Amino acid sequence: MSDKAIITLEGRQYEYPIIVGSEGEKAIVTQKLRSDTGYITYDDGYGNTGSCLSDITFIDGEEGILRHRGYPIEQLAKHSSFISVAYLIIYGELPTAAQREVFRERIRKEASLHTGMNSMFNSYPTRSHPMAILSSMLNSLGCYYPHMASNNREQDIEHFDEAATLLISKVRTIAAMSYRAEQGLPFVWPRKDLRYTANFLHMMFSEPYDTYEPDEDIVEALDLFLLLHADHEQNCSTSTVRMVASSGANMFASVSAGVCGLWGPLHGGANAAVVKMLMEIDRDKDDGTRFIKAAKEGKARLMGFGHRVYKNYDPRAKILGRAVERVLVNLGRKDPLLDIARRLEQEALNDDYFVSRKLYPNVDFYSGLLLRAIGIPLDMFTVMFAIGRMPGWIANWREEAMAPKQKINRPRQIYTGPAKRDIEDV
Ligand code: CMC
Repeated sequence: MSDKAIITLEGRQYEYPIIVGSEGEKAIVTQKLRSDTGYITYDDGYGNTGSCLSDITFIDGEEGILRHRGYPIEQLAKHSSFISVAYLIIYGELPTAAQREVFRERIRKEASLHTGMNSMFNSYPTRSHPMAILSSMLNSLGCYYPHMASNNREQDIEHFDEAATLLISKVRTIAAMSYRAEQGLPFVWPRKDLRYTANFLHMMFSEPYDTYEPDEDIVEALDLFLLLHADHEQNCSTSTVRMVASSGANMFASVSAGVCGLWGPLHGGANAAVVKMLMEIDRDKDDGTRFIKAAKEGKARLMGFGHRVYKNYDPRAKILGRAVERVLVNLGRKDPLLDIARRLEQEALNDDYFVSRKLYPNVDFYSGLLLRAIGIPLDMFTVMFAIGRMPGWIANWREEAMAPKQKINRPRQIYTGPAKRDIEDV
């Protein structure tokens, strides 16, 4: 195979290098295209644009494969924990038992928030969306640790380990506090004896007069949920984190921007949108066929279906689909929305509209049902995604910040507005 791409423009040929990733992914390096030819590439939505080289996550969307640092997601889900996968994603290797304990201890120590932040939570109107609070609070958090959020690259990298564990720990506390602020409930402080996921549930659901004792199945299911969301290469929120980081911005500012990218219903907001959709179908006494028809006519979107990269079943959706069933059985409960979801899935997988467009369930199709089974309120679903995605954002910030060539991300555009014109006399 030629190691060069030849592009012919206006009768002239130009040669560009080809690079190949460790899993055989190929790219044409077009960095000099504009200076050579005056042309740029136009790729609305970036479906064919590689914005970085990355060692963290590999996806083969055609085959439905997801691997972090080489490890298949199925193996990680079966044998690992959220904290170990967070370590893997950030540092490149699964931790030894000793490394895991140090990492856990650092996270444990950082669980509480500066009391100065309490008044900030209290100044939001009740019913404020917790994603808005989360994003603002993560950025504000940097104000309490100015030495880690200096926007001086060398200094921020020097404090990377501290900032990373601090963010992984405190995002969970902020998330729980934003829920309690939204509900007008008193804050519950973290406990030293509880692990990461159980501690989150405690901060969400304990009351000063009544300690919440989470069921082991629930803790396990939530840990799996977080693990499965830990990273997913250059999606909208992670690209946002890298975009912000590329200007030299600190990690707190960058992940705060990531939260905003995640919030929308086409990205992380889809987990809540799926459950809302299922509730509407249930309320309308539709067996799913009316909704599928509306989706095919372009009047609705089957939320939790379709993906920019996966043209096959998202492997995380398979794991989550099984996890919802398991949790409901273990808790001795039934959820009519799960039956509707299964019916919709079957309809869609046998319908030419979805088959021909390669639309399969994505991570969000079953994740909302799992959160519902665990008892997480609907408004918090996307916040849960953000807690899970924090290690991925941190690892991508680090890659961007430590790239040998510090280059600001700055795409071009094709201008389509009016041509030059002059102001008439007024
Ligand atoms: N329901 C019905 N039709 C769909 C759907 C859907 N969920 N998704 C895509 N299509 C159709 C779309 O109308 C288009 O049809 P046509 O070729 O006739 O115009 C075709 O499939 C291609 O769709 P697209 O919008 O160009 O695809 P995209 O790669 O730009 O969008 C997507 C990907 C995930 C935004 C989209 O599939 C979608 O909106 N899905 C529903 C929202 C969702 O579940 N989002 C979570 C994504 S996964 C987790 C995450 O990243 O957070």
